[in-house]
Amino acid sequence: MESHELVQLIQGIPKAELHLHIEGSFEPELMFEIAKRNNIALDYDSVESLKKAYKFNNLQEFLDIYYIGAQVLIHEQDFFDLTWAYLTKVHSQNVVHVEVFFDPQTHTDRGVPFEVVINGIYKALEKGQQELNISFKLIMSYLRHLSEESAFKTLESSLPFKDWVDGVGLDSSELGNPPSKFANVFKASAQHGYKLVAHAGEEGPSEYIWEALDLLKVVRIDHGNRCLNDNALVERLVHEKMALTLCPLSNVALKVIQKMEDHPVVTMLDKGLLATIHSDDPAYFGGYMNENYYETARALQLTKDQLEQLAVNAFEASWLSRETKDNHIAEVKQYFKGLN
Ligand code: ADE
Ligand code: ZN
Repeated sequence: MESHELVQLIQGIPKAELHLHIEGSFEPELMFEIAKRNNIALDYDSVESLKKAYKFNNLQEFLDIYYIGAQVLIHEQDFFDLTWAYLTKVHSQNVVHVEVFFDPQTHTDRGVPFEVVINGIYKALEKGQQELNISFKLIMSYLRHLSEESAFKTLESSLPFKDWVDGVGLDSSELGNPPSKFANVFKASAQHGYKLVAHAGEEGPSEYIWEALDLLKVVRIDHGNRCLNDNALVERLVHEKMALTLCPLSNVALKVIQKMEDHPVVTMLDKGLLATIHSDDPAYFGGYMNENYYETARALQLTKDQLEQLAVNAFEASWLSRETKDNHIAEVKQYFKGLN
């Protein structure tokens, strides 16, 4: 297929985004604009010099820059603008459903109140639902480099906004911070009605995926690349129809893999795993949903059937109702039928 045909094909697929950190969608241009109006000096003198710093050898090198960028977010309007910019961008890519992570502790630890953060994000998501017809879920992520006690405080802060928060996640520095560290707060989160997901097996070993399943009782694994080292784990994930929310451009940018051609998504589909494709931190890793689909499809020569499967899997793995999932899946199938 010619590359412009592939671009067009991917553009037309109705897509669901299930692995997106809203702070990771912070484009340098908007970062500079918000820094200026908040009178905050960035360490970089231009968008270009900031972008030049976006070269990472591992997850931690990325996180160090990502947390610095987030420091310019102070007011509700800042969080609103960040979220609205993301929604308008993905609307142009035919993304029709999003499940968005935010990292409360990145902001509350700087003195920005939880309600300021969530009000800005939630109001933009509601506007996106009304004006762009993008449905949404909101996931609050605990930072795993911090203590479980700090996660408990975050859980407490979220309770007045319980109706707005659909689930909790676990992100940040994986190595040395196993899921077991957060078993109690995940249990308490479930008792408050939150759904559970966790990043596992991005840089960390397959044991962390077992822990996320057995100790945290998650309903999806974010990344999960490392499961392929462990046949018994793969069997379990297939049997439980456990989704793995993969982020191919992220994996290349953070050197989880050396090059896109090495990405495990085809191997995973062949093994019957519920693999899905998402963008993680699109402002830092070179692309949103369409670019992730495109770069993966090109490097791995994905077939139309595989692209269809990936798009269907994302709706299947979403937290939409059975009926709404089925409607989206029917649309995806209809779209691919119309291509032939
Ligand atoms: N926070 C934002 N992006 C992340 C990633 N890819 N892994 C862990 N924590 C993150
Ligand atoms: Zn992530």
